[in-house]
Amino acid sequence: MKLTLIGTGYVGLVTGACFAEVGHHVVCVDNDEAKIKLLQAGGLPIYEPGLAELVKKNTAAGRLSFTANTAEGVQKSDVIFIAVPTPPLPDGSVDLSFIERVARDTATAMTDYKIIVDKSTVPVKTGEKVAETIKRYCAARVDFDVVSNPEFLREGFAVSDLMKPDRIVIGTRSPRPVAVMKEIYAPFNAPMVVTDINSAELIKHASNSFLALKISYINALAAICENTGANVQEVAAGMGLDERIGRRFLNAGLGFGGSCFPKDLSAFIKIAEQVGYDFRLLKEVQRINTEQMDRFIKKIIDTLWVLKGKRIGVLGLAFKQNTDDVRMSPAIELCQRLQKEGAILRVHDPKAMDKARAILNDATWVDTLDDVAEGCDALVVATEWDEFKNLDLDRARKLLTHPIMFDGRNLFDRVEMERRGWIYKSVGR
Ligand code: UDX
Repeated sequence: MKLTLIGTGYVGLVTGACFAEVGHHVVCVDNDEAKIKLLQAGGLPIYEPGLAELVKKNTAAGRLSFTANTAEGVQKSDVIFIAVPTPPLPDGSVDLSFIERVARDTATAMTDYKIIVDKSTVPVKTGEKVAETIKRYCAARVDFDVVSNPEFLREGFAVSDLMKPDRIVIGTRSPRPVAVMKEIYAPFNAPMVVTDINSAELIKHASNSFLALKISYINALAAICENTGANVQEVAAGMGLDERIGRRFLNAGLGFGGSCFPKDLSAFIKIAEQVGYDFRLLKEVQRINTEQMDRFIKKIIDTLWVLKGKRIGVLGLAFKQNTDDVRMSPAIELCQRLQKEGAILRVHDPKAMDKARAILNDATWVDTLDDVAEGCDALVVATEWDEFKNLDLDRARKLLTHPIMFDGRNLFDRVEMERRGWIYKSVGR
């Protein structure tokens, strides 16, 4: 099928590449000309495992192309996916101006029946507004259908999440676009939920908020574990074996960050308020998340006492492993708060150093993991990168003035660390 994706961020670009991989002909559109030039030249604006190979292969096969011209993208396909950012406004509500702009541009360019699919995370009832907008601005007065088809990919695992989705959600007002949507997604062999547009839009916010709730729940338990001598990882393992609960997203740590959970929670709280429901449960999820960072900083101060002039090595800057994304990263927040206390930082991340440089000042940037500890008073693990487990602990011990580690992601074995002579503080253990 011929498909157009408008917006080449994480969702648009990875979805476009995966659609091409299963045989569709895909045009990716972005109004950022520099980004399109980079993509046309074979470059990528983001790091995502497996993406470079997919883009290269499908571009070469003629199934994937890029343009900065929205009208061209709209006219080439029957199905137009909107995958543009929906950033937060200062009051926590969602800025829908990019969606509105794309709806207008699409409407203006339409000369025959189109299916307009919203993939961006949007408040419930956005689909209705998109449909109204298209109707208003479509001079050709052609038929169209609006579909809500939220995306559930995780950064760092986006390609595998897309190729093997848990479910495909198709929200629509009329039965007409359902067969086409099913055909597009048939190669992915996933269960399909066909529903009305409002429910589809709610599924996305409800799912992300529930996952964030799960993380805050385990972080609250971590506090109780610390006060009772229990081990949060063992509690999570015991809970997770209950199939109704599941082990995933029960990792205690520095709290959740990234471009989705914090924003989606605020948005969902705001949406609930606008429709007359005070979603206090989710406000508590936010509060626990903030408190989790405060408790970790306190742990560092309780151990090191005065941070002014202390050298601290920080492992990890990305908001989680396998990504170079530093937006709303707990690791960056941690660094900035340590700096505010007067600490001098040596930092390392396998992929996020370039992006972190733009928002973190006055740190020493260390290229190799094993050199971070040099001359430091303590090490802090801030991101759950698997490769940090390969840290040469004996070398790090020698490079540090004292063998102290604050493990904000519970990567190391507590008993083993203490046996090796480390002063080792982690989360909920
Ligand atoms: C999330 C959703 O998982 C995805 O379905 C949606 O489409 C977009 O938002 P993403 O933001 O890429 O994906 O990251 P995710 O893997 O969900 O992690 C979010 C944050 O939670 C990270 O900061 C991570 O470190 C943290 N986290 C995750 C925990 O602290 N503990 C966990 O057990 C899991």
